[in-house]
Amino acid sequence: MIGRDLLGIEDLEREDIERILETANHMREIGEREVKKVPTLRGRTVVNLFFEASTRTRVSFEIAGKRLSADVINFSPAHSSLKKSESILDTARTLDAMDPDVVIVRHAVAGVPKRIADVLDAPVINAGDGAHEHPTQALLDLLTVQQEKGRIDGLTVTIVGDIVHSRVARSNIYGFRKMGAEVRVVAPPPMIPAAVETLGVKAFTSMREALDGADVVMALRIQNERLAGSYFPSIREYAATFGLDRAKLQFAKDDVIVMHPGPVNRGVELSHDLADHRPSVILDQVRNGVAIRMAVLYLFSGRRKAGRSERIQGSS
Ligand code: NCD
Repeated sequence: MIGRDLLGIEDLEREDIERILETANHMREIGEREVKKVPTLRGRTVVNLFFEASTRTRVSFEIAGKRLSADVINFSPAHSSLKKSESILDTARTLDAMDPDVVIVRHAVAGVPKRIADVLDAPVINAGDGAHEHPTQALLDLLTVQQEKGRIDGLTVTIVGDIVHSRVARSNIYGFRKMGAEVRVVAPPPMIPAAVETLGVKAFTSMREALDGADVVMALRIQNERLAGSYFPSIREYAATFGLDRAKLQFAKDDVIVMHPGPVNRGVELSHDLADHRPSVILDQVRNGVAIRMAVLYLFSGRRKAGRSERIQGSS
């Protein structure tokens, strides 16, 4: 996988996903040691290029790189020449000329990581682009389910909430389907994408039906920043109908687990009690995020031999 981009789970084969999960299982062990550092990526450079807010994803990519002994640079757009209206692509080319071995990109607009990947010699890892994909989030969710349940194949996974604006939902739909799980989505009708069934999922508007027999329930954050119109009458009504609490969990299997990518709107997507206690596994997801990002940096980083930027400069 060295030199390949990781732009979405849609582009991965099941074998690729299995390889990443297997590598992450080894990486997790490094995080449990007293000295959490191995020399694997010594002398390699990782650039974090985050154009949109992030806590978990940005910090965990940084920790992941450092645990592997890479040099990690956090580029902050607010203090850069982007303020002097340098374009995103020129900024990316400038950073690429400093020979990083991998560039991590997050942007509010879908497709920006791909546009950047098309002009760089460093491979690009998508850390979330608009409502498109968030591949490392889906990988850490798959790892968490595999760890909890011992398998993914044959499980029933119900995703609750703002499917239409959620890159986490899209990446998880691809990931869980490729790994052999049944995927259901449940939300107020305007939050369910029109052709969602073409992705191989079953769509519901009733929580009781969607949760019936579920092994895993994943609640999504209400994406206030991406909600242009009004998708439900009020937050209170949303919480009453679609917010997860112990009463609604009765519909699911006895050993159901509850997931959330964070940040959680407490009392909206999840009751306060579920936000903090099992069967929710939110902090395990965060911990696994470091292991997944270590695996991804290890497997994908390394500049492409036949440079893309040379070809582009040569042809212009
Ligand atoms: C998600 C994101 O930014 O896509 N957060 C994350 O990366 N853990 C989910 C969200 O913002 O709702």
